[in-house]
Amino acid sequence: MSDLNRIARPAPGATSRSTSRATSRPTPRAVRALAAAGLIAACASLPAQGQTQALPDSVSPALAQETRAIAGDLLNQLGGKLKAALSTDGPIAAVSVCKEVAPAIAKDLSARHGAQVTRVGTRVRNPAMGVPNAWQKAALADFDARMAQGEKAADLEHWSVADGANGKPELRYAKAIAVQPMCLSCHGGKDDIPAPLAEKIRLEYPDDQATGYSVGKLRGAVVVTRPLPAQ
Ligand code: HEC
Repeated sequence: MSDLNRIARPAPGATSRSTSRATSRPTPRAVRALAAAGLIAACASLPAQGQTQALPDSVSPALAQETRAIAGDLLNQLGGKLKAALSTDGPIAAVSVCKEVAPAIAKDLSARHGAQVTRVGTRVRNPAMGVPNAWQKAALADFDARMAQGEKAADLEHWSVADGANGKPELRYAKAIAVQPMCLSCHGGKDDIPAPLAEKIRLEYPDDQATGYSVGKLRGAVVVTRPLPAQ
C-alpha cells in the first residue's frame, strides 16, 4: 500500500494553531527573554487537538490518540528542557539538549511504548540521527505540498499503515515540526546565529545543513512507528 494514499487531513475549518506570532529575528538576549516569558511551548508545537482525521481503516481513534500522545510527550519534554537550558545557560549550552537529551527522551519513550520514536529533519544537522527514510521523506513531501496549499505546519499529521521489516503491519505516524522564533538561534540564517554558537555547531556538526530556516517553515517531523495491534 502506498503511503501517500493514506494521508489524513485536518477537517475543513479545523482550528489552526498559528506558529508565526513573531516574525522578527530574535537576538540571543531576545531568545532568553522569550524563554523566560514562557512563550516557548516546546521544541515544536503540540499535536493538534480536536480535529477529525481520516485515519487508515485499521487505526482506531483510541490508537491514534495514544500515538499522538507519544509524539506530544517527546515535544513537551524536549521543549521544557530546551526552554530551561536557553533561559538559564544560554544557547551555546543548550546545544547539548538537542544533542544528548533529545535522543535520550526518544529512547525512553520508545522503550516505554514498544515503539520507535525519533525526529527527522527536512535538512539535517546530525546525519547519524535525523535523516528521513523513504516513507518519512514522503511524509515530509506531503507536508510541504499541503503547506503550499495554505495549511499550517503545526496542524499537519501523516498516518500510514504498511508492512514493517518483520513482515507484520505497523502504524507509522509523522507529526510536522514547525520552526518557532526560539529555534532561529540554532537553525536560522547567518544573522540569527551568534558567531560563537555558529562555531560550536560547525565543530560538532561539520556536515550541518539545518540552518537557513525562518519562522513557520517545516523543520522536520516527530515520527512514531509501532506494531499495529491485532484486530
Ligand atoms: C541551542 C541550539 C538549538 C536550538 C535552540 C534548537 N535546536 Fe534543533 N538541533 C540542534 C542540534 C545541536 C541538533 C542536532 C542533534 C543531534 O545531534 O541529534 C538539532 C537537531 C534538530 C532536529 C533533528 C534533525 C536534525 O537536523 O538532526 C530537529 C527536528 C530540530 N533540531 C528541531 C528544532 C526546533 C523545531 C527547534 C525550535 C523549537 C530547535 N530545533 C531549536 C540545536 C538546536
